[in-house]
Amino acid sequence: MNQTELTQSLYFRHACKLFDKSQKIPAEDLHFVLDAGRLSPSSFGMEPWRFIVVQDQALKEKIRPACWNQPQVTTCSDLLIITAKVDDPARRAYYKKMFSRREMPAEMLENYLTVYQQFIDGLHSVYGWSARQCYIAAANIMSYAAMIGVDSCPIEGFEKEKLEEILELNTTKEQVALVVALGYRINEAPEKKRLSFDEVVSFR
Ligand SMILES: Cc1cc2nc3c(=O)[nH]c(=O)nc-3n(C[C@H](O)[C@H](O)[C@H](O)COP(=O)(O)O)c2cc1C
Repeated sequence: MNQTELTQSLYFRHACKLFDKSQKIPAEDLHFVLDAGRLSPSSFGMEPWRFIVVQDQALKEKIRPACWNQPQVTTCSDLLIITAKVDDPARRAYYKKMFSRREMPAEMLENYLTVYQQFIDGLHSVYGWSARQCYIAAANIMSYAAMIGVDSCPIEGFEKEKLEEILELNTTKEQVALVVALGYRINEAPEKKRLSFDEVVSFR
């Protein structure tokens, strides 16, 4: 894709309110899109996310009331629930595993673990920190989806506890950060409304 086509894909992407229920995303396209999430950057490289893809229609129906009854939830092809990992005592083993793959000397690893632990202890909310990383992954997922003509809608309008209960999540380990509906639009996208470049960008 050249720059013009990439920009066109950013215009193509919109918060799709209603999907064509009859159209399913081919498995390889879905894999491509989800991989954009998996390959996203994360603070300290901790990848504090999990991508749960809801394809079962009955489960989507169950989820919809917990998402402010939004029709995207039941009309989309795939309903992606991005969960944020949260702190629990077993997580230290996880940090170690994630740092260890950088193949550093033992002393440096210990140092990393100490610095990281201090960072985590100083956070106001581990969930909030993890969720911020999830939003980066979600942005990549939606942008890559648009590049191959797949529509999406980010959904923050949900009742977190209700949704976690339906999904039977162990909330000491992970909690819902964001929902992204993926599929194909049934209506034309509305005109894109954005502030101008000069209103949001300044150079110093
Ligand atoms: C974090 C986040 C949460 C959102 N939650 C919802 C939602 O629950 N339902 C919805 O219809 N749109 C939701 N939106 C879509 C925004 O309203 C939309 O992106 C914005 O109005 C700009 O329009 P566009 O994306 O079509 O260009 C959300 C967007 C973001 C980034």
